[in-house]
Amino acid sequence: MRKLTNILVTGGAGFIGVNFIRFLFGQGTVAPEFKGRIVNLDAITYAGNIASLKEIDEKFGGTRYFFEKGDIGNRALVEAIFRKYDIDTAVHFAAESHVDRSILGPEAFIKTNVLGTFTLLDVARSAWKKSDGSFGSDVLFHHVSTDEVYGSLGETGYFTETTAYDPRSPYSASKAASDHLAMAYHHTYGLPVTLSNCSNNYGPYQFPEKLIPLMISNMLEGKPLPVYGDGKNVRDWLYVEDHNSAVWAIMEKGRAGETYNIGGENEWENIRLLNELIDVVAAKSNSDAPAAQAVAMRSTITYVKDRPGHDRRYAIDCSKIKAELGWKQAVSFRQGLERTVDWYLSNKEWVNGIRSGDCRRWIEENYGKR
Ligand code: NAD
Ligand code: DAU
Repeated sequence: MRKLTNILVTGGAGFIGVNFIRFLFGQGTVAPEFKGRIVNLDAITYAGNIASLKEIDEKFGGTRYFFEKGDIGNRALVEAIFRKYDIDTAVHFAAESHVDRSILGPEAFIKTNVLGTFTLLDVARSAWKKSDGSFGSDVLFHHVSTDEVYGSLGETGYFTETTAYDPRSPYSASKAASDHLAMAYHHTYGLPVTLSNCSNNYGPYQFPEKLIPLMISNMLEGKPLPVYGDGKNVRDWLYVEDHNSAVWAIMEKGRAGETYNIGGENEWENIRLLNELIDVVAAKSNSDAPAAQAVAMRSTITYVKDRPGHDRRYAIDCSKIKAELGWKQAVSFRQGLERTVDWYLSNKEWVNGIRSGDCRRWIEENYGKR
């Protein structure tokens, strides 16, 4: 088991990063054994919200939790952080993460996902290299990636760790490039690197541009529910805490140089998922007639122009991480959806705050009002 003492978390103010830090500090439903320090490096783009970690900052700020605002591509800053906090572990979540945005403006994806990852890897290599050029077993760079690097499946089959890369959007191409760089740093320089490719996450603190939080927010505001194309694209959904427990298992026990697929084993066509979500939201709204409310929400489903190059189906075979590291999903889809809807119902301020800014403006500018 690795010691994992001074951990640099990049992108710790985004959806998965916030949940990861909360998980490590025992604020989720599972509390891992973690006694070390976290340094959260985040540029606070439109997708980052540091207020999501207010309680952690109040309780652990200055002792076990530190926030550094900045760009992962800023080499001098990253070097200073490695020195100042004596970083022994990096877990790299920071990214531009939204496929639609990558189609409309790929440049930021190349800068952050490709060049930013390169900078982090290169600084880790210089900081951790011993005088004989080797690395100790107490350092680790864990790179967080996506199943989208594998491309699109037909009606059958699964992505495994040996599936050939076939990225098809600027987002997935930039993530694929960063995965290759991470593994190249392992093979060429011996840097201890682990890599995970995960399916679609959902849960609290997700920016409401992604399918599930967008639909919940629109339902609560009585807005149309935009479904791309025929609504039959399939995604494999995983509750965010299950992703984070998998990342933690890899960091503790995963073998350097290995890739681990993480997934929900939980495939849903988008339209079927939306109908399920409508039932959950209707049941939790204060209406006397949830069935009638669900019918009203269904009437707002609007089929819109498809996403260009829209991958048809993703499905993950995660038997390797289950067999090798003993990880498994803990939250069923219905439970996860209920927790997520409860969270969005009790955190309207968070949603309004983040939505009133860039996201709402960006959606309206690029897709019209919806
Ligand atoms: P997100 O967009 O919610 O958060 C990204 C965070 O990175 C934000 O806080 C943002 O401010 C920060 N960031 C962006 N550019 C930066 C830069 N140049 N320097 C420093 N910080 C920067 O993303 P997410 O959904 O939390 O995804 C986290 C990671 O997990 C990404 O690498 C993504 O590719 C991967 N992933 C996401 C999913 C998913 O379903 N959301 C699934 C599999 C893998
Ligand atoms: O598979 C992992 C990936 O999952 C991550 O790497 C990405 O960071 C994350 O954003 C997510 O990518 P998707 O493109 O699958 O997620 P998104 O929520 O954007 O869309 C999910 C599905 O819903 C997809 O088939 C497109 C569709 N969709 C999405 C939106 C936003 C709609 O039909 N309507 C919408 O308004």
